[in-house]
Amino acid sequence: MLSLNYCLLISWLLLLSTPHSRSLNPSLDDDVLGLIVFKADIQDPYQKLSSWNEDDETPCNWVGVKCSPRSNRVTELNLDGFSLSGKIGRGLLQLQSLRYLYLSNNNLSGTVSANLVRLQSLRTMDLSYNSLSGAISNDFFRQCGSLRAISLANNKFEGIIPDSLSLCPTIVAINLSSNRLTGSLPNGFWGLNGLRSLDLSNNLLEGEIPDGFGSLNNLRGINLSGNKFVGRVPDSIGRCLLLRMVDFSDNLLSGELPETMQKLSLCNFLNLRRNLFVGEVPVWIGEMKSLESLDLSGNKISGKVPGSIGNLLSLKVLNFSANGLIGTLPYSMVNCANLVALDLSQNSLSGELPQWIFQAEEKSVKKIQVLDLSANQFSGEIASAIGGSSSLQLLNLSRNSLSGSVPVSIGELKALNVIDLGENRLNGSIPTEIGGAYSLKELRLERNLLLGQIPTSIENCSSLTVLILSGNKLSGPIPVNIAKLTSLQDVDLSSNNLSGNLPRQLANLAHLKSFNISHNYLQGELPVGGFFNTISPSSVSGNPSLCGAVVNKSCPAVLPKPIVLNPNSSSDSTSGVLPPSLGHKRIILSISALIAIGAAAAIFVGVIAITVLNLRVRSSTSPSAAALALSTRDDFSHSPTTDANSGKLVMFSGDPDFSTGAHALLNKDCELGRGGFGAVYRTVLRDGRSVAIKKLTVSSLVKSQEDFEREVKKLGKVRHPNLVALDGYYWTPSLQLLIYEYVSGGSLYKHLHDGMGGNFLSWNERFNIILGTAKSLASLHQSNIIHYNIKSSNVLIDSSGEPKVGDYGLARLLPMLDRYVLSSKVQSALGYMAPEFACRTVKITEKCDVYGFGVLVLEVVTGKRPVEYMEDDVVVLCDMVRGALEEGRLEECVDGRLQGKFPAEEAIPVMKLGLICTTQVPSNRPDMGEVVNILELIRCPSEGQEELG
Ligand SMILES: *[C@@H]1O[C@H](CO)[C@@H](O)[C@H](O)[C@H]1NC(C)=O
Ligand SMILES: *[C@@H]1O[C@H](CO)[C@@H](O)[C@H](O)[C@H]1NC(C)=O
Ligand SMILES: *[C@@H]1O[C@H](CO)[C@@H](O)[C@H](O)[C@H]1NC(C)=O
Ligand SMILES: *[C@@H]1O[C@H](CO)[C@@H](O)[C@H](O)[C@H]1NC(C)=O
Ligand SMILES: *[C@@H]1O[C@H](CO)[C@@H](O)[C@H](O)[C@H]1NC(C)=O
Repeated sequence: MLSLNYCLLISWLLLLSTPHSRSLNPSLDDDVLGLIVFKADIQDPYQKLSSWNEDDETPCNWVGVKCSPRSNRVTELNLDGFSLSGKIGRGLLQLQSLRYLYLSNNNLSGTVSANLVRLQSLRTMDLSYNSLSGAISNDFFRQCGSLRAISLANNKFEGIIPDSLSLCPTIVAINLSSNRLTGSLPNGFWGLNGLRSLDLSNNLLEGEIPDGFGSLNNLRGINLSGNKFVGRVPDSIGRCLLLRMVDFSDNLLSGELPETMQKLSLCNFLNLRRNLFVGEVPVWIGEMKSLESLDLSGNKISGKVPGSIGNLLSLKVLNFSANGLIGTLPYSMVNCANLVALDLSQNSLSGELPQWIFQAEEKSVKKIQVLDLSANQFSGEIASAIGGSSSLQLLNLSRNSLSGSVPVSIGELKALNVIDLGENRLNGSIPTEIGGAYSLKELRLERNLLLGQIPTSIENCSSLTVLILSGNKLSGPIPVNIAKLTSLQDVDLSSNNLSGNLPRQLANLAHLKSFNISHNYLQGELPVGGFFNTISPSSVSGNPSLCGAVVNKSCPAVLPKPIVLNPNSSSDSTSGVLPPSLGHKRIILSISALIAIGAAAAIFVGVIAITVLNLRVRSSTSPSAAALALSTRDDFSHSPTTDANSGKLVMFSGDPDFSTGAHALLNKDCELGRGGFGAVYRTVLRDGRSVAIKKLTVSSLVKSQEDFEREVKKLGKVRHPNLVALDGYYWTPSLQLLIYEYVSGGSLYKHLHDGMGGNFLSWNERFNIILGTAKSLASLHQSNIIHYNIKSSNVLIDSSGEPKVGDYGLARLLPMLDRYVLSSKVQSALGYMAPEFACRTVKITEKCDVYGFGVLVLEVVTGKRPVEYMEDDVVVLCDMVRGALEEGRLEECVDGRLQGKFPAEEAIPVMKLGLICTTQVPSNRPDMGEVVNILELIRCPSEGQEELG
């Protein structure tokens, strides 16, 4: 719509520049056309100027446009923050009556034409916060008409400030802040008697400030901050008697402050921070009675703070930081009752801490919020009157020579956010009252002489993000409740005498960035999870009794090996073979070792198991095994030969006649159960023999046929009365079956937990099952087969009550020993999974079976599941039994159904053996051969002279 008439408009505008061609209502048309052309030159991504319609008679109702009611001509254009980009074209030059032009906070680019300034009526021009660039041309201000205020701040203007400025006598406010202007201050400024505000801050201006302030007798504010001005502040500044704000900060100004400044009695803001000023704080500063903010920080000012500061009754902010001040602070400062911030840090002030700051009397600086006296040479104690400074938010007294204790009254500072008392000589303990300062975000007490414990009350400071207590003599444990301070980011407790275990709840701190506990006497296992999985070794070093992966030390390794077979011989502890002279053998099961086995690891495994369980619940909606079997039925054949289409059936012994079973296989009624690796069906061979057929559901994971066959044949070779025999297999790329001996009596799980027919297992039966299972595992391990999946539902009971262990070695059928797949395949082995499965760096060995066996032993004896889920609790069997052992109540753990019907002299050592098998560190678990021997000793104590307990 706009583009249609755009060329036309331009030509029209060109015509208009001759007075004869004006239409009937020329001035109005000028404004409409001018604005339309302005609009045509810019981009308006948010259509903010959609109300600007060229067909309108008058622009006075357009957004951002204001007209004079009398003349109906445009007097104000305010497009502040309209997100406009593009160039400021010639259109605006038509707005002959424009007085106020606000184009700030847009994205306008290109240069600005000097003609804009020539608009006769223009008084205010604000182009700040755009991307305007180029030099300000030398004739920019040559005909500045009635311009009073100009802001080009926050653009990209460069070059020098044109001298033509002096030709703008009406100008009141100049703001060229935050550009890239260079060169020195033009003398032109000094003719601008009307100038009230000059902001040239944040440019690259240099040279001396010319001594011409004398004629600027209307100047109220001057900001030259952030340039490269050098030399002295000219004396003539004292003639700008109306000056209220002076900001010369961040320059290279030097010399002493001109004495004339004392005449600036209206000045309330003086900032000379970060220059090169020398000399003392002048006594005459007390004459600048309106001062509210005085900042002389970061200079080279020396000498003492003059007592005349006390005359500055309006003072709110006093910053003398980073100078060379000496001596004590004058008592007169107590008069500065409005002080809000006092920063005298990084000087050489000495003596006692100024009492007038804290004193409880009427006269004191009650409103103080920021008090920074850090890095001086103050000595003496921190007065307990500090508790009266109820507005205090930041207190930094660090790096002085303060002594005495941290005052108890610190707990009264309810507004306190930051307290830094580091690097002093404070002694005593951290007061428990610190918990009263509940707004604390940062607590730094490092490098003092503090004693005692970290107060548990610290938990009340719930916003705490930084806690630095390093380099003291703190002792005792790290309070568990620190783990409740969920905002904590940086914690440094290093180089103290802290002892005890690390609360493992610390792993819950989600925002930790650093946690340094090095050089203490902490012990036990590092928390697992969260930040602690990536904590740097240097943060925990120097704690000799700390263990865990980070310190490269496995945890119970510092403890004695729990089983010592034949202490008279030192050679056999790893052989797994008992010495021939069984009769003289002593078995010592160390209780201390048992107790020392951390309960926490088992909880951790429990948590993982629960997670895995949840995962499984979500993914258990796969098509049923029966359906799968149906779809592959045509592939099924009883031919013993290899055939790509029909599959390959191999029976390890006897007649591979399978045909009667083929139908049964398809029948879901014949499903015996399901495990992690697949469903099991019962079928009957032609010779009347029953077999159990396991249909692997992990086919996508199964290796190549060659690998599969090699592994299966290996499994087929192990024969043991306590193992479910593998009779054969069937293989096609899409279907794999394993054919097992059929065991009729149901699983141990059912016997223990599902109350098979009201019959429960007697102690003898249980012992038998434990022993048989141990033997089967020992035999597997001898054949270098790891079971990987030992659990009560994989132990079957045959008709004579003998245990038969099934499902062994199947993990080897996976392409690789993938722990994730494994842990999700053996998901139902909740609580049986050895902790090393959770730890990628630990090699999985047959000791994982020993762990699972240990859990199974406890399960058989107690009749409880490895992990019991209560309403809002999870009970991990090993922990429960271990706890009972510590409390001497082991006997109570035995299955209640056996009460009075079991020999304690067997049951108790069996449980202890179970606990040893569930030792966290794999190498500390006995091997299965040892286990079998121990069990046999327990059963027949007369054969040996053993001591258990
Ligand atoms: C500003 O304009 C430039 C082009 O002139 C463009 O590249 C940039 O994206 C714009 N920025 C914003 C915030 O609109
Ligand atoms: C100069 O302009 C900048 C940007 O708009 C503003 O922040 C600053 O306050 C102005 N200076 C004065 C003295 O008004
Ligand atoms: C002076 O200018 C600097 C940089 O633009 C700014 O940060 C400062 O606040 C200004 N000073 C005053 C008193 O406005
Ligand atoms: C005092 O000035 C220094 C810079 O010179 C600054 O870092 C500090 O924050 C200032 N103190 C206060 C309380 O504003
Ligand atoms: C306290 O002051 C010291 C020295 O001036 C400084 O290094 C430290 O960062 C300050 N502490 C806080 C919490 O700001």
